[in-house]
Amino acid sequence: MQAYFQLDDDVVHLNHAAVAPWPSQTAQAVKAFADENARQGSKDYDLWLLREKDLRKRLAQLINAPSTDEIALLKSTSEGLSLIAYGLPWKSGDNIVIPAEEFPSNRIVWQSLESTGVETRLIPVSNVKNPEQALIDAMDSNTRVMSCSSVQYATGLRLDLARLGHACKQSDTLYCVDAIQSIGALQFDVQACQADFVVADGHKWMLGPEGCALFYCRKTLIKQLELKQYGWHMVQDVSDFNKKDWQPNETAQRFECGSPNMTGIVALHASVGLLLDIGMAAIERQVMEKSAWLANKLAALDNIEILSPLDDNRRAGIVLFRKTDADTESLYRHLQKHNVLCAMRGNGIRFSPHFYTSLEKMDAAVSLVREFC
Ligand SMILES: Cc1ncc(COP(=O)(O)O)c(C=O)c1O
Repeated sequence: MQAYFQLDDDVVHLNHAAVAPWPSQTAQAVKAFADENARQGSKDYDLWLLREKDLRKRLAQLINAPSTDEIALLKSTSEGLSLIAYGLPWKSGDNIVIPAEEFPSNRIVWQSLESTGVETRLIPVSNVKNPEQALIDAMDSNTRVMSCSSVQYATGLRLDLARLGHACKQSDTLYCVDAIQSIGALQFDVQACQADFVVADGHKWMLGPEGCALFYCRKTLIKQLELKQYGWHMVQDVSDFNKKDWQPNETAQRFECGSPNMTGIVALHASVGLLLDIGMAAIERQVMEKSAWLANKLAALDNIEILSPLDDNRRAGIVLFRKTDADTESLYRHLQKHNVLCAMRGNGIRFSPHFYTSLEKMDAAVSLVREFC
């Protein structure tokens, strides 16, 4: 497993829920691209475009999208969410339902609509017996959008996306999934969960770079989102620069206004290629095993509180914990000092291993937690 990565021996990378390391094949692809640019510039731009097209194919496969026409390559999850929030028609009195604990990207953009009379309802889902029901109960006839993370960034709580999708379809509510904390770690099926929009940047579980994000928009909604960004790249007949009359592309490429992020595309193409070669079912199994192993080992220590859910259908790759007899920030600094990459989130320390993380490395991190007082 470790052969897929070239991490230094002393680095314990438990931070895939933040910014992942690149697999060796991704690093090599970017190096080769840099070398090619230095030697011959964009001579083979046509081949670059083929790779860009293939990335759309790979991303569509990764989420089981019916067509690459529904995939756009954007710069971030936040950009995708903003395209949705500012592309939809709103009227005063409309509301949006989101989990209260969402990462700011999936809260601020909806709250920014407040001046137009649109309410954002923050519904707590942590330590709630039936989080999906809590979200569904918060919907009414004025709810236009339900937007939630597939996996909560802090606790790692996994929501039943299909159940929420079903409820949204029944009530004619648009359904938006911020899937950055699950795509690449868990299998994702946009058709099974009936999402209308899916957004996810590549730099977490997809093992890609920052600044190259997947945006899925259901075919029937592509033309319903009002465009707010314009440029040469989002039109039909994209290479006919003399044409004075233009129409937006029929596909989700209409959301890409200018030049593509080719370096990001090279990297994400290689990373997603690796995920697909190994297979998402196998990766999900490994991620679930690794996070369970960590949660169990940590739980066995004295004075540890596990803040993540433990049920298999409620958890993913994130293990959030705190030491009840120690200051969280001091523990975090201690781990950092020993090259354990992790994060401080939601009153605890967040460990997020990926499929390749070795038990040896995880054991080293657990030992550091045990020894700390
Ligand atoms: C759930 C969630 N959504 C969005 C983001 C940030 O996305 P981006 O930087 O691609 O806008 C994060 C980053 O931690 C996240 O955890």
